[in-house]
Amino acid sequence: MSTILLTGASGRLGTHMRRWFAQKGRAVLATDIRPAEDGGAVEIADLSDREAVDRLMARDIYSVVHLGGMAKEAGWQTVLDANIIGSYNIFESARKAGVKRVVYASTYHVVGMHPTPTDAPIDLDAAYRPDSLYAVSKAFGEMLGRLYFDKFGIECLAIRICTAGDPGTPREARLWLNRDDLATLIETGLDQPDLGHRIVYGISNNPRKMMVNEPDPGLDWAPAHGSAELGKPDPLAPLDETDPRNRLLGGAFSTWGHQDDKSDL
Ligand SMILES: NC(=O)c1ccc[n+]([C@@H]2O[C@H](COP(=O)([O-])OP(=O)(O)OC[C@H]3O[C@@H](n4cnc5c(N)ncnc54)[C@H](O)[C@@H]3O)[C@@H](O)[C@H]2O)c1
Repeated sequence: MSTILLTGASGRLGTHMRRWFAQKGRAVLATDIRPAEDGGAVEIADLSDREAVDRLMARDIYSVVHLGGMAKEAGWQTVLDANIIGSYNIFESARKAGVKRVVYASTYHVVGMHPTPTDAPIDLDAAYRPDSLYAVSKAFGEMLGRLYFDKFGIECLAIRICTAGDPGTPREARLWLNRDDLATLIETGLDQPDLGHRIVYGISNNPRKMMVNEPDPGLDWAPAHGSAELGKPDPLAPLDETDPRNRLLGGAFSTWGHQDDKSDL
């Protein structure tokens, strides 16, 4: 019994992970609400449909890499269905099926309303200050992970993924997470003995990085990449202070209004 259930498998990071796991020869059951653009094998299921999640979880699943859901700010109903109910279904279905571990895709937006760090980066002791309904849903997922470990023994690594796309600004270069660094971090979450419950910032070794993994979460992982290797944008370049997206850690997310009022995302 070693199959990994990979949710969000048709998405940007899910596609990377599908290919990564295939290269490593790991057994994966990939799922998403939509087919993969590259034609890869992906089972169609809606995370908000508990019976559909139960059917996946019954297929000899040992651990879950939970990347699926709404990956940015959205209206309440979308966030509720895809992320809050979706993540609850994953943890609860995992409990019923005897699954041992969940690696959960959280986000740095759970601390997005903190001021943009100038001197000292944000650490793992920073209080939750979510910058969006999306971030609230991710904090809920982190709390589910805590509850399901403390009460039911399901081990969990919650990864507060920073900017896993190509950085376009100095700010993003400070927040960058190389996708192979994400993959090794996810594998650490799957394989490290005695994981328990841990939270980590998914960030590469960037100059002036905005987050640090202190106090040390004790993971057998270190990023192999950093945004200095990209050449540009320069993470050391000053941030444009007149741009409101640079004032708070969450960037543009911290500036958007309520999406049930607006449609300007
Ligand atoms: N890309 C980043 O920089 C970044 C940063 C922080 C956190 N994350 C998190 O990492 C995960 C993956 O991000 P991504 O960039 O690949 O996003 P993505 O939008 O490309 O992928 C998410 C996938 O989830 C699927 N999905 C949405 N609703 C679903 C539902 N109800 N049922 C089943 N599947 C559903 C989508 O079809 C999509 O393929 C997300 O949870 C996101 O919140 C990503």
